[in-house]
Amino acid sequence: MTQEKWTAVDSYITDMLLSNDPILEAVLQASNAAGLPPHNVSPNQGKLLMLLALIHQARNILEIGTLGGYSTIWLARALPTNGRLITLESNPKHAEVARENITRAGLANIIEIRVGRAVDTLAQLATSDCHPFDLIFIDADKPSNPEYFSWALKLSSKGSLIIADNVVRDGTVIEASSTDPKVQGVRRFNEMLGSEPRLTATAIQTVGSKGYDGFAIALVTSEE
Ligand code: SAH
Ligand code: DHB
Ligand code: MG
Repeated sequence: MTQEKWTAVDSYITDMLLSNDPILEAVLQASNAAGLPPHNVSPNQGKLLMLLALIHQARNILEIGTLGGYSTIWLARALPTNGRLITLESNPKHAEVARENITRAGLANIIEIRVGRAVDTLAQLATSDCHPFDLIFIDADKPSNPEYFSWALKLSSKGSLIIADNVVRDGTVIEASSTDPKVQGVRRFNEMLGSEPRLTATAIQTVGSKGYDGFAIALVTSEE
């Protein structure tokens, strides 16, 4: 099996199951034109995020890692009109592109971008009354995943859903002695997921237009 085939099948799935979406196409085009890296989730992954938020009837979502707002927009589309999504981004240029994209998608009244290092904006959030969040999507710098997990748990309550992207990384996640801080960040994150008694979790490997990777999903089953 090859990347070429994974990409072709993702195109097939997208053609079959996702309706034409000029807004999200424009979002990707604008992100690309602005020189943002292509680290957004794929269309069918984005729709999975939206479906999970819908199934969960999420009203209050937190995202760590905005980039151009692509996954942000998918998640926000699951929200009711009085719902809210806060997304955290450290790169002001990424945040600016996301702001334009979110306005383009007509979601500026639902989505708030907080610019700054997530460890700082998360600490600020913790002292506010924005939490608990019904759904938290972790998708920023991978070395910081363990810290993001700790914050996600603090900002959760019983019933919160925590989802993390990129937990397989081409299979490098099984390399215990890897010197790659991204791999070690994801490994420590997975360990924390597995040993945390307040939640129940799993992870799924994926292939597709974004290569070989995976996501983790955890349901908080008891309060801190
Ligand atoms: N969720 C997006 C992709 C995010 S890519 C999507 O699927 O569409 C990861 C993003 O995290 C990048 O925009 C990067 O600038 C941001 N990031 C990296 N380090 C960060 C940090 N310390 N705090 C907040 N954001 C960070
Ligand atoms: C990277 C980050 C992501 O969130 C992603 O989906 C793919 C790659 C990265 O930092 O390399
Ligand atoms: Mg990602």
